[in-house]
Amino acid sequence: MRKCRVLVVTSEGLVPPENAAELPDEVKGDADWKMEYDVVCALEGLGHETSIIGVFDDLGVLRRAIEEVQPHVVFNLVHEFHGVGVYDHHIAAYLELLRQPYTGCNPRGLMLSRDKILAKKLMQYHRIQTPKFMAYRLNKPVRKPTKLSFPMVVKSAVEDASLGVSQASVVHNEEKLRDRVAFVHEQVQSDAIVEEYIDGRELYIGVIGNSRLETFPPWEVVFADLPESSMPIATNRAKWNSKYRKEHNIHSRAAYKLPAGLEERIPAFAKKIYRTLFLTGYARLDCRLREDGTLFCLEANANCDLSLDDEFALGGDKLGLSYPDLVQKIVSLGLQYKPAWKRAA
Ligand SMILES: Nc1ncnc2c1ncn2[C@@H]1O[C@H](COP(=O)(O)OP(=O)(O)OP(=O)(O)O)[C@@H](O)[C@H]1O
Ligand SMILES: [Mg+2]
Repeated sequence: MRKCRVLVVTSEGLVPPENAAELPDEVKGDADWKMEYDVVCALEGLGHETSIIGVFDDLGVLRRAIEEVQPHVVFNLVHEFHGVGVYDHHIAAYLELLRQPYTGCNPRGLMLSRDKILAKKLMQYHRIQTPKFMAYRLNKPVRKPTKLSFPMVVKSAVEDASLGVSQASVVHNEEKLRDRVAFVHEQVQSDAIVEEYIDGRELYIGVIGNSRLETFPPWEVVFADLPESSMPIATNRAKWNSKYRKEHNIHSRAAYKLPAGLEERIPAFAKKIYRTLFLTGYARLDCRLREDGTLFCLEANANCDLSLDDEFALGGDKLGLSYPDLVQKIVSLGLQYKPAWKRAA
């Protein structure tokens, strides 16, 4: 394995503190910079010359760091620019314009997968099962949902990390639907998407690769001890609040006892989604498995969470890819990726 200079780039505020290694595990485990810390430790452990910077709203910071470090590859962990999530694909585009190799997804894949409405239109065109949906654009009147049955889920069309997803996101009548669409419009300031609620198991499927793809064994989120009144969905709290997770025994594990034949069908299903959305690098597909065995894709997360204990890395581990192997694979894929400028050269 070639030793490289790797510049990790993330959002300002997510750069781990100098003394991170000395902090207790509980502090590290709950820190916002947990993923960055895990990735940097793995890169250092692999022997790569590693540095990390945070960017907020100044591309000059990124450009100067690249000039100074001359990295073989930028490890791209940026999920927003100027606090705006939908700008993430511009970072990958900027790196590409600088002819700087980078890890993860290309700009087109980032843009398509973040836009849930566009992504689902593409999936429908390619006959990939995804919940029926309607788009509710910002500043447009809220129409009566047609051709969809209650319950429904109301989400932001572009935000991730379950921002704005709570128990109130599942609605059972038109009045609640209108309220929640207004909430997304006002609080998240984005278009909303309304989907039919899929009653079933929550499965995450990791995919890695640029042209030759590998899929990870499905990973299941289990909502073991939720109160009767709560729907088993990955709300913001269920995902990120470790106290709440412990209290209600929300955990994840390799999915087992899947309907006959499903496991064999998953790789083709996952690869089709990945290719349909022009993804490269790595991604986690969030899916729901209905009682009758139908698997629905909720969304694709390009450049998904890479924390050591997150479902993507755990799925990779199940396949035999240890965490350092996974991080190395992502670096190698970044170096191998052929953007247009390389093809033209
Ligand atoms: N149509 C649906 N049917 C059932 N549950 C749903 C549906 N849509 C969303 N959910 C639940 O809400 C969660 C969050 O939805 P989704 O993954 O689309 O949003 P996100 O904010 O982009 O999440 P992420 O944190 O993965 O980026 C899902 O993991 C699932 O538990
Ligand atoms: Mg999701």
